[in-house]
Amino acid sequence: MGSAFIKYILAKYPDWQIVNLDKLTYAGNLENLAEVENNKNYYFLKGDIAKREDVEKAIGEGVDKIINYAAETHVDRSILEPDAFVKTDILGTYTLLEAVKKYNVAQYIQISTDEVFGSIDSGKFNEESPFQPNSPYSASKAGADLLCRAYFKTFNLPVIITHSCNFLGSNQYPEKLIPLLITNLLEGKNIPIYGDGSQTREWIFTEDHCRAIEKIMERGEPGEVYNIGTGEEKKNLETAKFILQELGFGEDKIEFVKDRPGHDQRYAIDSGKLRKLGWQPEISFDEALRRTIKWYQENKVWWQRLKSGEYLEYYKKQYGK
Ligand code: DAU
Repeated sequence: MGSAFIKYILAKYPDWQIVNLDKLTYAGNLENLAEVENNKNYYFLKGDIAKREDVEKAIGEGVDKIINYAAETHVDRSILEPDAFVKTDILGTYTLLEAVKKYNVAQYIQISTDEVFGSIDSGKFNEESPFQPNSPYSASKAGADLLCRAYFKTFNLPVIITHSCNFLGSNQYPEKLIPLLITNLLEGKNIPIYGDGSQTREWIFTEDHCRAIEKIMERGEPGEVYNIGTGEEKKNLETAKFILQELGFGEDKIEFVKDRPGHDQRYAIDSGKLRKLGWQPEISFDEALRRTIKWYQENKVWWQRLKSGEYLEYYKKQYGK
């Protein structure tokens, strides 16, 4: 997501300068930014948001806005190994907030998730809904969001929090549901569905999310929280069947596997507050999924390289093969 946003901003605002601070963990990939690496307004710094010296080095370049896309994000990995989630998501956010205070940064936007609210059977979460996170990942993000809130209340820092639904689009690491299913099928493998596949997710196309953050940068108010959602809810099984059909496979490719512990049944968020600022999604789920499938079909080298080494070790731990 961070790389998509950088490309979006540099294309639309060629005079803006961007410093990209990235630890380049397993899911980080400089190839995603190859097209801008020679742009004179783009600077890359390898570093950790949880290390003060790395953050201060990045901010020392004269930064006036920070958008925190940096996080450990994969729920299943947080169940296997929560350590990095607490360090990057909580300590990293704390370190950034301290830097915002020290360097008087004019705007800080926290990219967070609808998962902090937990699961909802009917209706939608709004910005005031209580936090009820159910995984080490979502608990870490909730902790970070609470620090953001506290730094606004206590120090009056210009902090804005966003809660987004699930992303889909190009360049997504193939551990997430959609790229995992597409790439498994392109390799001729089965597709793992947790439990009975009745869980529901709300989906947003990457570019629509970029536009939402752009709108919040322009019109968002310090101390406010904005949900970013589309209303496009799909059961996992529906998503799987759509992909199977688009790629010409039958449902025999579906393999129902052991459910995720603490699996949230349904996420749904009310994004009316953001829509009042003048944003709305432009790409439907079907269109977004077709574009995403096409991208993975056309970029086999990109994802085949990722599905090796550490990925295969993780896959074995997670799926038992
Ligand atoms: O809601 C926003 C969140 O969406 C983000 O905050 C997270 O960083 C992001 O990882 C995503 O979390 P999910 O757990 O919803 O995404 P994931 O792609 O892991 O799973 C989507 C759904 O598909 C979920 O119900 C679990 C299910 N699933 C996932 C995988 C990887 C399967 O059935 N089989 C699978 O192999």
